Amino acid sequence: MAEKYRVGIIGCGGIANYHMNGWNGVDQVEVVALADPVAAAREEFGDRHGIAQRYEDFRQMLDDEMLDIVSICTWHKLHAPMTIAACARKPKAVLCEKPMATSLGDCDDMLIAARRNQVKLAIAHQRRFNPAWTLAKELVAEGAIGEVRQVNACGGQGLLNDCSHLLDMMRYVMGDPQAVWVMGNIERKTERFERDIPIEDRSLCVVQFDNGAVGQLLQELAGPNYQGGIFYGSEGIIELDESKVRLLNSQTGTWEERPGEGEDPSVGQQREIVEWIEGKVEHRGQAENGRAAVEIIMATYESARLHEVTALPLRTMASPLEVMIEAGDLPVERPGRYDIRAFLLRGEDMQQEG
Ligand SMILES: NC(=O)c1ccc[n+]([C@@H]2O[C@H](COP(=O)([O-])OP(=O)(O)OC[C@H]3O[C@@H](n4cnc5c(N)ncnc54)[C@H](O)[C@@H]3O)[C@@H](O)[C@H]2O)c1
Repeated sequence: MAEKYRVGIIGCGGIANYHMNGWNGVDQVEVVALADPVAAAREEFGDRHGIAQRYEDFRQMLDDEMLDIVSICTWHKLHAPMTIAACARKPKAVLCEKPMATSLGDCDDMLIAARRNQVKLAIAHQRRFNPAWTLAKELVAEGAIGEVRQVNACGGQGLLNDCSHLLDMMRYVMGDPQAVWVMGNIERKTERFERDIPIEDRSLCVVQFDNGAVGQLLQELAGPNYQGGIFYGSEGIIELDESKVRLLNSQTGTWEERPGEGEDPSVGQQREIVEWIEGKVEHRGQAENGRAAVEIIMATYESARLHEVTALPLRTMASPLEVMIEAGDLPVERPGRYDIRAFLLRGEDMQQEG
């Protein structure tokens, strides 16, 4: 049998187990090494998955292991520096967790690093491989609801976390249209953080896509919050969640439920990485799509900062949310930093090292 692609995992917390699930489902790869500065994380993860090579310093792993594929499973702020460091060692591919980065400038640095080292870079919006989401995409492409006019979704935990999946869903199901403009607003009266990045308390985002559809995302403003949404077309409606599609049009007459059945999205996502390495032209989660979700999010913050419709492409490379916080434009009325994901940290830490 041909030699297997050597995979290394950076960051051995929750989502790394899901990456392992995906890699374990693909015959052509073997996870050979891991890196995490927290000894307990290294040992638990390494023992659970039978990975012998364990590194405290991810750069040491990259230097020593001649990896073909790098899985980046750390918190958002580390995605850009780790992707750039991984690309500099010229693996064949990097699969980095979402959100791609915490600013558009960082997304672009990651794309540059990937291009100059000829590395295939994908962002883990794995729901693109969710059978229900793909079924919805196929129905839209077949014209089952006519022209999509509006998409509604509700999310939580700040725009960059779960909501990046929802914006990615809007684009994926509609065949990846480009965003043309964004109008949004946010409220931040507490010192709210999520995995060490500042987030808003509430926000809303309205985005015009170049296929004519308008997306609407409510963050901590309305429920229920779930990974899915409602697509209103000129000739029907699709309601989508992670397990099923519901379709209403003149042919169905009444709501028709179609289960999305198929393999685990992590396996599909990782298999397509191998296919991409071996010549497939595109990966569904290729970095340009990860960047597109971050751009809509940053444009929402920019619209709130400048009180105007933000035309895309966005030219502000820093996070407008961080700019607003630093400029004192979002005075905190209820002081005291809190991180809604502080429970993920181990030992005495309350903040992750940068
Ligand atoms: N795609 C999805 O559906 C999905 C779901 C959950 C999380 N995520 C993403 O995964 C990322 C990680 O989230 P998580 O919940 O797994 O976090 P986690 O806290 O459970 O795991 C992060 C791990 O990274 C390690 N780490 C920190 N600094 C490091 C460094 N310098 N080198 C190597 N490892 C380091 C930590 O010790 C920890 O073990 C986040 O960006 C999150 O958005 C994605």
